[in-house]
Amino acid sequence: MTRVFSGVKPTGHLTLGNYLGAMRQWAAVDQHRADSLFCIVDLHALTVDHDPARVRRLSRQAATLLLASGLDPELCTVFLQSHVDEHTRLSYLLECVATDGEMRRMIQYKEKSAQERERGGSVRLSLLTYPVLMAADILAYGADEVPVGDDQTQHVELTRDLAVRFNQRYGHTFVVPKATPPKVAARVMNLQDPTSKMGKSDDSGPGIVYLLDEPDVVRKKVMRAVTDSGRVVEYDREARPGVANLLEILAACTGGNPESLAAVYDSYGALKKDTAEAVVEVLRPVQARHRELCADPAYVEGVLRDGAEKARAMARPIVDTAYRAIGLLPPVSEPSLSAAR
Ligand code: AMP
Ligand code: TRP
Repeated sequence: MTRVFSGVKPTGHLTLGNYLGAMRQWAAVDQHRADSLFCIVDLHALTVDHDPARVRRLSRQAATLLLASGLDPELCTVFLQSHVDEHTRLSYLLECVATDGEMRRMIQYKEKSAQERERGGSVRLSLLTYPVLMAADILAYGADEVPVGDDQTQHVELTRDLAVRFNQRYGHTFVVPKATPPKVAARVMNLQDPTSKMGKSDDSGPGIVYLLDEPDVVRKKVMRAVTDSGRVVEYDREARPGVANLLEILAACTGGNPESLAAVYDSYGALKKDTAEAVVEVLRPVQARHRELCADPAYVEGVLRDGAEKARAMARPIVDTAYRAIGLLPPVSEPSLSAAR
């Protein structure tokens, strides 16, 4: 059976981009057709300036929202990365396979480190090595497919390179995975700046729709989305990025396609209104289920505990094989210790 692995970072409140670009496909498609693992990658949240209490809060919230969006622990495995030591164990081995140059070429590293320096902050070493930990997340489970939005394809490419290199040097150990982006909404853009991604860690709230935004807040944000000064509704990402983004969001929410939806509208106002309502409707059941789950934190904790146990059992043998393959001796067990004496 195909194995799927994906993850979400608890660095901010989850957004419509996370939902349309990733979570929705995990719940609607992946968990039903594959042996799937979905991970709240909390260690990755420590790669930038962080507040411990906030990371704890956001990790719990992300877990609750993953379940609210339809992940079913009977069908898939939901867990926290830091609960399974195999991720960091394998990450070190992969650091011995990856190169410094490879890390510095990662677009996300270049962007985030530049931002951090601009703010006068320092860049954590873990920000540079982050893609290796991500590769470990994926390779530790022998995942075949990694359903992620567009922004992560470079990291999945790196994961493939590391898997191939490791296998060539030390013998076949890892499955070589591939990224599987969604057909629509692989990159939902910021409503106030449609040339940049709707990212949860950005500071500009008005351009970001959060999964837990009240319906009226969602409406306001969509109605105020930046378009251009034209009037023609056409799907052209280059010339009309704001309109294209709205069309993509609407298409993703209603199951249509952006080109044919463009033909339906003759004003930006009408497009915005329908998009706002479509988003409100898509979020409604997620928010309702989230409220129910918040009233039952013990259930969510139980899911995470069982999930970590299942994940550990899957990752352990693969990571142990990698330790042996790269040249590390197995720990000496009690009987052979006494035999040696
Ligand atoms: P992150 O928010 O970086 O932890 O991302 C979690 C998942 O959501 C990844 O698969 C991302 O590719 C996806 N994702 C995040 N932001 C967007 C966006 N604006 N559009 C589409 N997918 C996104
Ligand atoms: N780097 C991913 C992001 O920022 C999150 C992530 C970490 C991930 N490990 C992963 C996604 C493994 C897929 C598979 O969105």
